[in-house]
Amino acid sequence: MEIINLNDTENKLFYIGGVVRDEILGQKSFDIDLTYVGNAIEFAKTLEGIEILKINEPFGTVRIKANGREVDIASTRKEIYERPGHLPTVTEIGCSLKDDVLRRDFTINALAKNYNTGEIIDYTGGLEDIKSKTLKVLHDNSFVEDPTRIIRALKFAVRFNFSLDEHSKKLRDDYLKNINYDMSFKRVKKELTETFNLNSQRAYDEFIEAGIYKLVTEKEVKKQNINIENLINKYKSLINPSNIWLIYLATIGDLSKLELTKEEKKILDDFESIKNIELNTDFDTYKAFENKHPETILIYGILKDLIPAINYIENLKNIKIEITGEDLQKLGVKPSPKYKECFDKILEAKCYNSNLTKQDEIMIAKEYFDI
Ligand code: CTP
Repeated sequence: MEIINLNDTENKLFYIGGVVRDEILGQKSFDIDLTYVGNAIEFAKTLEGIEILKINEPFGTVRIKANGREVDIASTRKEIYERPGHLPTVTEIGCSLKDDVLRRDFTINALAKNYNTGEIIDYTGGLEDIKSKTLKVLHDNSFVEDPTRIIRALKFAVRFNFSLDEHSKKLRDDYLKNINYDMSFKRVKKELTETFNLNSQRAYDEFIEAGIYKLVTEKEVKKQNINIENLINKYKSLINPSNIWLIYLATIGDLSKLELTKEEKKILDDFESIKNIELNTDFDTYKAFENKHPETILIYGILKDLIPAINYIENLKNIKIEITGEDLQKLGVKPSPKYKECFDKILEAKCYNSNLTKQDEIMIAKEYFDI
């Protein structure tokens, strides 16, 4: 994993957090985080053959490009949570490595690896917890200071098949009984998307059963009796992978605390607009689901009725009429809103008999316009 050509023999540079955990687990890491015992920004300026991409002075972090890869180097730092649930404030830059790891979320994320020697530094028992597949917070106030860690625990539990230890679980449950909603929901949303985009029924079951959903809504939520993971897997090719989380979270019914993108809003608004329509015929179903995101249709399937949702995705969606406005003009019909009514009549007929040919469609049009 040599990234920076270092001739520094002070042993002040360490791989830190997820990258060390992932290497021990034999998993691919998303990004490489390094920490420098001291001021990382000053340190980066002394490096040769690298490019400095971004400096965050208050946090003492710097992003560099080295050997074609982007790497974050943080200064070892101490933090306090002046407003629990929000980003912490840095109180010291250049503290000891031990103090730096002690501000982190779980023991498995508090491992460091010496950049020069490869020695693993484990101040909190992270190695043992990786072995026993355990997620353990580093102190009793961890979830109070940063409730997003409750969702992070779920994410790591699902990603690595780990479990929260009993004490951390009790701390989580205590917090969930007394939530302080003055928190950064932007961070909550980030963790929710990362967790639920993993498409895991286990995450959903725990999210509801343990009451983790209470971080998102103050209303009571019941678990849906459907395996959402299987449903999504079945129709994966139709879904935007970054919207998977929304299919799960839609079951909460109230996402008003989260800031949604335009597309996310549309997916949910469209569900609201169709959820009370009576679907008595295939044509009703076709019209209700026509031009809707597949995500909306799956949400309908989960929350309202699976049968029409599947019927639309598997059958009705593929029904298209062949006749065009040009064909109607050729029949001598002047363009008017009647065109649309006629097309709908043909579509309705095709919903009952998808084998109708273009000739059949023209016959229906002639009948409609009394030609
Ligand atoms: N961290 C934390 N509390 C948080 C978020 C992050 O203590 N709420 C710490 C953890 O030590 C974590 C590190 O910051 O390892 C980097 O955070 P992030 O990149 O979000 O996590 P990774 O562990 O790298 O996980 P991923 O593989 O999902 O990127």
